[in-house]
Amino acid sequence: MICWIRSLSVTAAMMMLVACGDRPEQYMLPDQVMTFGTLYKDNCAGCHGQNGRYGAARPLNDGLYLGLIGKERLRKVIANGVSGTTMPPFAQDQGGTLTDRQISVLADEIEKRWALPQEFDAATMPAYDGTLGNATAGATTFRQYCAGCHGPDGTGVSGHRGGSAVDPAYLALVSDQYLRTTVIAGRSDEAIPNWRTYVPGHEMNPQEVSDIVAWLAAHRTFPDNRTKGGSNLP
Ligand code: HEC
Ligand code: HEC
Repeated sequence: MICWIRSLSVTAAMMMLVACGDRPEQYMLPDQVMTFGTLYKDNCAGCHGQNGRYGAARPLNDGLYLGLIGKERLRKVIANGVSGTTMPPFAQDQGGTLTDRQISVLADEIEKRWALPQEFDAATMPAYDGTLGNATAGATTFRQYCAGCHGPDGTGVSGHRGGSAVDPAYLALVSDQYLRTTVIAGRSDEAIPNWRTYVPGHEMNPQEVSDIVAWLAAHRTFPDNRTKGGSNLP
């Protein structure tokens, strides 16, 4: 039985809670739950995967990614969501269902359990934030780092590992930041390489990252605006 109740009236919530099993947590009002496992499962696992991997949305159980985003920013994204995408805001003052304390439990525990600060040097990584670079230069950079798996025009090559990276239907669902995050951090759960492993021994520099993101974004077919998502800061 599903015992997690979002935005119901207190009375209705109490009635349903009484019907739930006998673990103490299940007698709590939704905003009193502070257990990471429950908060993650009920709010994040459906999109980011059980245990933070193999979901439709990017893995969060990924030390390299957590080093890239940093805990403060992680907390802000959880609170504010990403506008124009299916990543919802969770803070109550943004229309979400979680208290500030619950959001802190999520950010703290994701970091504590899944970050691997000892395994890489954040100083060598391109920054999480960045503006779009030069799309024309990005086309050349893409051929250098990405064409081996996605083909020279990004639409994929049959028999190769990557599919299309420039499908307008895909690009309509994700923000510029998401593209940037993917180019830098890859996806450890799907064997998508990262900025320093596309071409072994030759890491991408920050300009190359920004240029490739601009080139990917330029494949969007929105009527009048090729950028998406904006800043996920308030
Ligand atoms: C070693 C092969 C390989 C290389 C090199 C590679 N990719 Fe990929 N990429 C993949 C695979 C595998 C996937 C997952 C299958 C798919 O979605 O096509 C993927 C997926 C993607 C996606 C969709 C990710 C998602 O989950 O939303 C994007 C965008 C992408 N790649 C961009 C790039 C860019 C840009 C580069 C070069 C900087 C690059 N890839 C280099 C293998 C590769
Ligand atoms: C309905 C699906 C959905 C749910 C539920 C969801 N997410 Fe997301 N999340 C997404 C999508 C899609 C994105 C990519 C948004 C974009 O394009 O920028 C995302 C992005 C993110 C990012 C930023 C990724 C980046 O590029 O740096 C973080 C961090 C994140 N989610 C954490 C969480 C956490 C923690 C929870 C649970 C409290 C959660 N999400 C719940 C779908 C979801």
